[in-house]
Amino acid sequence: MTRHFLALHDFSETELYGMLTLARELKEKQKQGLPHKLLDGKTVALIFEKASTRTRVSFEVGVFQLGGHGLFLSSGNSQMGRGEPIRDTARVMARYCDGVMIRTFGQEIVDEFARYSDVPVINGLTDLFHPCQIMADLMTVIERKRTCEGLTFAWIGDGNNMANTWIEAAAIFGFELRLACPQGYEPDAKVLAWALAQAPGRITLTTDPKVALAGADVINTDVWASMGQENEQKEREKAFAGYCLDDALLALAKPDCIVLHCLPAHRGEEISDSVIEGKHSVVWDEAENRLHIQKAIMATLMGGV
Ligand code: CP
Ligand code: NVA
Repeated sequence: MTRHFLALHDFSETELYGMLTLARELKEKQKQGLPHKLLDGKTVALIFEKASTRTRVSFEVGVFQLGGHGLFLSSGNSQMGRGEPIRDTARVMARYCDGVMIRTFGQEIVDEFARYSDVPVINGLTDLFHPCQIMADLMTVIERKRTCEGLTFAWIGDGNNMANTWIEAAAIFGFELRLACPQGYEPDAKVLAWALAQAPGRITLTTDPKVALAGADVINTDVWASMGQENEQKEREKAFAGYCLDDALLALAKPDCIVLHCLPAHRGEEISDSVIEGKHSVVWDEAENRLHIQKAIMATLMGGV
């Protein structure tokens, strides 16, 4: 059966840990220059309906390092942008390629793509989830803290695709997650309800960043207006007043806390320059780990690992 990577909830904790372990091994091999051509001769289509720097580069480089070929497509330069149905594109892609990564708007688009695809489909970000990013974030946390068990995670800001995926991660891995989101900008209600049923008491929601940050080990934030919400920027700036992760707020967390940001960041909005450039920030390792974890995800789904 073809396995797709559309959301974390499609995988067990053991399966996700398997990918994290493989990512660590592949990172080691790549650093030592050892061969790891697990996708030798395979082609992965990389479809982007939204902008990207990290996702595009890390997937293209990752497929190449695995011995395969990454094929970039955007809605602007393919028939998808001219309205060719998703289910038609999905079936045609599967006749040429060994896997597909897609970044798009609604989660229902990747779900439909996967339903019609005979080859594995990977979610490279939707409005609802960003699972590759959270796997890279977990890899970074484990590198720094040895484990994610027993740690307190804080999310400060918009209840967006990143927040929703953290909620799924907290439910699956069982760590404590405190989300601070302004009223009206809460995470997806269905995702939250599912996670609360899996892990009662582990996930809490507040409007006060100070409550979420108190004694936290891992702090994560993201832009206030995600891709597709650019016209809401001004009203969001008003709603998110007091949510900038700056030195004063960070002082409430544990002295050895780490700060994550998926990037791109808006310095002076959701995070201060001093915090993102400061000693708690691990954002460059986090960005690098996109490469390693995505290689592990592709190898698991397409390489017969
Ligand atoms: N974090 C992330 O997905 O970055 P890009 O939008 O640059 O791909
Ligand atoms: N929440 C952001 C993440 C970008 C990587 C967005 O969807 O634009």
